[in-house]
Amino acid sequence: MFDFVTAGESHGKSLVAVISGLPLGLEVDFDSINRDLRRRQSGYGRGGRMKIESDHIEVVSGVRFGKTIGSPVAVMIHNRDWANWQESMSIESKEIPEEKIKKVTKPRPGHADLAGALKYNTKDIRNILERSSARETTVRVAVGGFAKVLLRHFGIEIASHTVSVGEVTLPDERKYQFEDLLAIRDNTEMRCIDSALEQRMIDAVKAAHLSGDTIGGAFEVIAHGVCPGLGSHTAWDRKIDGWLAQAIMSINAVKAVAVGAGQRGSQMLGSHLHDEIFYTREPGGFYRGSNNAGGIEGGMSNGCDILIRGYIKPIPTLRKPLKSVDILSKEAFDAAYERSDTCVVPAAGVIGEAMVAIILARAFLEKFGGDSLTETNRNFQGYLNQLANF
Ligand SMILES: Cc1cc2nc3c(=O)[nH]c(=O)nc-3n(C[C@H](O)[C@H](O)[C@H](O)COP(=O)(O)O)c2cc1C
Repeated sequence: MFDFVTAGESHGKSLVAVISGLPLGLEVDFDSINRDLRRRQSGYGRGGRMKIESDHIEVVSGVRFGKTIGSPVAVMIHNRDWANWQESMSIESKEIPEEKIKKVTKPRPGHADLAGALKYNTKDIRNILERSSARETTVRVAVGGFAKVLLRHFGIEIASHTVSVGEVTLPDERKYQFEDLLAIRDNTEMRCIDSALEQRMIDAVKAAHLSGDTIGGAFEVIAHGVCPGLGSHTAWDRKIDGWLAQAIMSINAVKAVAVGAGQRGSQMLGSHLHDEIFYTREPGGFYRGSNNAGGIEGGMSNGCDILIRGYIKPIPTLRKPLKSVDILSKEAFDAAYERSDTCVVPAAGVIGEAMVAIILARAFLEKFGGDSLTETNRNFQGYLNQLANF
C-alpha cells in the first residue's frame, strides 16, 4: 500500500516524510520536486516567512543511483528559519530564559490553538501551532513529487489553477485545454488562465492587504489521462471521490471540496448535468460530450479528466485584530499580528496537486500492484488490453 507519514514543526530543524509502497525502479525527478516546492512558496499574497525559506528536498533513504529500490523512502526539507528558533524549539531539555522560550498563551481565532491546547492539556500553545501550521504541507508536496513521477509513467499528468480569489471568479463557461494549465504553471503569480482576471485577483489581494485583512478563494486540480476503474463502488471507504475529498480537505484552510460541477450541479436539471455516453469505433472507444461528473462516477474514475476544487477560507492571522482570551489570565485581548500571508490560494493549488497525485498513486498501485515498476507496467498493459478488447 502506497502510504506516507510526515513529521516536523514549523520552526523545527526539518520537515520529514517517510514514503512506503513505491515500486523499485522509479526515477526521482529532483528538478520537478524542487520546482513544485518553489511554486508552493510563491504566488501573490505570500508573507515574510516564504522570503526566508528556500525549500529543496534531500533524500536520505530508499533511493540508489537516482531510482527507488523498493524500500521506504525518507525525505527531508530543512527549515532555514530554524537558525532563529534553536532555543525556543530546542530538542534537548535545557535551561532557557523565559523570554527565549517564545511561549504562546493567546489563542488565535481560526487556528488550532484553543482546541489543541484544551485537547492536549498544554498551557503553551506553541506545542500546538508549530504542527498545525501549513508549513507541514511543504513535505507533502515532496511526497506528491514521487507520486507524480509514478503517474507520469502511466500517462497521467496533474495540474492546477486558481478559479477564484474573493469575489473575482473564473466564469464556469470559460473553456480551457489541459495545456493552458501547463502554460501558466510556473510564470504567473495567481495561476489564473485568464490574464485579465489574474490582474483583478492581484488587485483583490492588494486591497485586502492594505485594509489589514486576508482573502480566500478556490483552486481546481485536474488529473489528465486517468484510465477508467481507479477506486471502487463496492464499499463506502473505497470510493475515489471520498479519498480525494478527504485529501483536499486535509489542506489547511480548505473548507469545502467539489468534484466536477459540485454545488453548481445541485442547481441544474438532471438532463443538463449528466454526461451522455457515446462510442466511436476509431481508437478511443467510449467518450462523453461533457464532464460535469469531474471524471468520477460511482466512486470510480470513468476515463475523463478528474476535476476537483478546494475552497479556501481567508487565512486567520489578520493585521486587523480579532478578539480572544488569554488561557492563563483569562483576560480578553486583541490577537496580535505575526508575520503572515494575505492570500494562499495559488500555493494551496500546488498542495492540492500533490494530494491528488498521492491519492491517484495509491489507487493505481492498489489496482495494479507490483514490487517493481516493470511488474506494475506489465499489470497495467494487461488492463489496457482488457479495455481495448471490451
Ligand atoms: C499554503 C498555506 C499557507 C498558510 N499560511 C498561513 C499564514 O501565514 N497565516 C495564517 O494565519 N494561516 C495560514 N494558513 C492557514 C492556516 O494554516 C489554517 O487556517 C489553520 O491551520 C487552521 O486550520 P483550518 O483552517 O484547516 O481549520 C495557510 C494555509 C496554507 C494552505
